[in-house]
Amino acid sequence: MIANLLKDKVVLITGASSGIGKQTAVFFSQQGAKVIVTGRNQERLADTVSQLQGDKHFSLCSNLDSADDVEQLIKTAVTQMGPIDGVVHCAGVQKTLPLKVLKENHFDDIFNANVKSAQFLAKSISRKGRFNPQGSSLIFLSSVAAICGEPAISTYAASKAALQGLSKSLALELARLKVRVNCIAPGHVQTEMAKEFSQQLTSEQYMAIADKHPLGLGTPEDIAHAAAFLTSDMARWVTGTTLYVDGGYSAH
Ligand SMILES: NC(=O)c1ccc[n+]([C@@H]2O[C@H](COP(=O)([O-])OP(=O)(O)OC[C@H]3O[C@@H](n4cnc5c(N)ncnc54)[C@H](OP(=O)(O)O)[C@@H]3O)[C@@H](O)[C@H]2O)c1
Repeated sequence: MIANLLKDKVVLITGASSGIGKQTAVFFSQQGAKVIVTGRNQERLADTVSQLQGDKHFSLCSNLDSADDVEQLIKTAVTQMGPIDGVVHCAGVQKTLPLKVLKENHFDDIFNANVKSAQFLAKSISRKGRFNPQGSSLIFLSSVAAICGEPAISTYAASKAALQGLSKSLALELARLKVRVNCIAPGHVQTEMAKEFSQQLTSEQYMAIADKHPLGLGTPEDIAHAAAFLTSDMARWVTGTTLYVDGGYSAH
């Protein structure tokens, strides 16, 4: 593996109090990045900070459901660390909601956390002086659910498909600013979110999902590695695309 792939890059990682975001923060710090970690749970965020390599990092508690809070987060992050080289937007929620139990507020909650947050992160970060004019990267965490149906997760699937549409249009709009915008679409990765999801399935249903991954289930490290590539200068010509990191799930 290349060492110091992200040397001195300032990277904001959302959802860093858990799962994929937490592991991405740890890996990025090992690769030389200065990371700003954000999440809602202060205690879990402090645990992430304690695992980071180096000492130029800091954490900010923030709820990304509101555009005002997103703007405040970016403003504070830039004031503390200077222009940002990358954002890995891992914050998100997944709920199993068959149509018969789905309510309007479920839809709003999922779209606010998963899609509105991404849209307003892009808006706030793209203001002058907030990103590195030599080139910067925005990554949204989509999902294989965007293109492969599973019952009872239609709202979540729609929100993850929305991120792919969002990233393509933003890639075109922000190319002149040298801001690249991409998605990573993971398959089933063993995290808190995946644990909650699997607890709602029978063991047969869970095995059926596991069996759809020819290379087995994923780990948060698998996603962190893909995010490091997309954030690095090696991906300088990559924008408007989705990288499927799913052990072959979407190849079916
Ligand atoms: N795990 C999988 O199998 C899988 C598969 C495909 C896609 N993904 C996507 O990958 C991303 C990370 O998933 P994960 O498995 O690591 O999930 P996770 O372990 O449940 O972590 C979710 C993170 O999002 C944060 N978050 C949720 N709502 C938020 C809000 N309104 N404002 C700010 N932060 C918020 C949580 O913060 P607090 O804990 O501090 O509240 C937590 O840090 C998600 O977007 C998910 O949809 C995951």
